[in-house]
Amino acid sequence: MDGMQIRLRRLFDSASGNSLVVAVDHGMALGPMTGLVNVQETISKLENTGMVDAWLLTKGVYRYAFHPRGCPGVIMRISGGATIAGPELTREGLTGNVEEALALGADAVAVSAFIGSPYEHDTLINLAQVAGRCRRWNTPLLGVVGVGKINEDKKQDPRFIALGARVAAEHGADLVKTYFTEKDFDRVVAGCPVPVLIAGGPKCETDLDTLKMVYGAIQGGARGIVMGRNIWQSPHPEALLAAVDGIIHHDLGVNEAHELLTERQ
Ligand code: 5RP
Repeated sequence: MDGMQIRLRRLFDSASGNSLVVAVDHGMALGPMTGLVNVQETISKLENTGMVDAWLLTKGVYRYAFHPRGCPGVIMRISGGATIAGPELTREGLTGNVEEALALGADAVAVSAFIGSPYEHDTLINLAQVAGRCRRWNTPLLGVVGVGKINEDKKQDPRFIALGARVAAEHGADLVKTYFTEKDFDRVVAGCPVPVLIAGGPKCETDLDTLKMVYGAIQGGARGIVMGRNIWQSPHPEALLAAVDGIIHHDLGVNEAHELLTERQ
């Protein structure tokens, strides 16, 4: 087994083969938002459930707010450099490197690529270059597929999302995080040669909607989630995490997961 496989084993549950990743990297672009104002507290609360396979975080959160009790996997985001206050959120550059992430103790790194955006080229080149460094260190690369504001309406278009997932894999991503499409998500997965995990996006109206999304993704062949707002903006984050864990790792259906959510509240 090489370093790549060992690191991937720290991210994916060995029994189900899937992964429940909680994303807490939003502050780098969006500032202190609801649920992540005190990021250390949010991480501790969710970490104490023992249900988080891995965290997606920035170097700042990693160094100053990450004090896990156990040893969950860590995916460190190394692209950024744009905020909601700036002219273009998709204008991301590299904000770190693989060596820095490994020195901090990370198991994988993440880089965004914004398909169809004005910075599509630059962000794909970032992804491809980091993929080269990742090979050197046997470190998995999570390709975070974004679409940018101008393509917001394409988030539910399975052909567009399939394009983004495939392009990220072809530029060297070992794992791809993308949006769940209600229609034909299995085609997104089928067209991507590496494991696909879904982002959650803005908070769904209800936790039941979140469970339906996660269930749909797993049924469509996703290998898990890299989800933020729908978890830590839930009125019952720990209970929701248990329900999501049930779907991802224990084959629960939506109704069973919803019952678990209600029981745990
Ligand atoms: C923020 C991100 C997030 O990690 C990603 O979108 C997942 O979080 P959410 O489920 O809230 O969409 O890339 O920059």
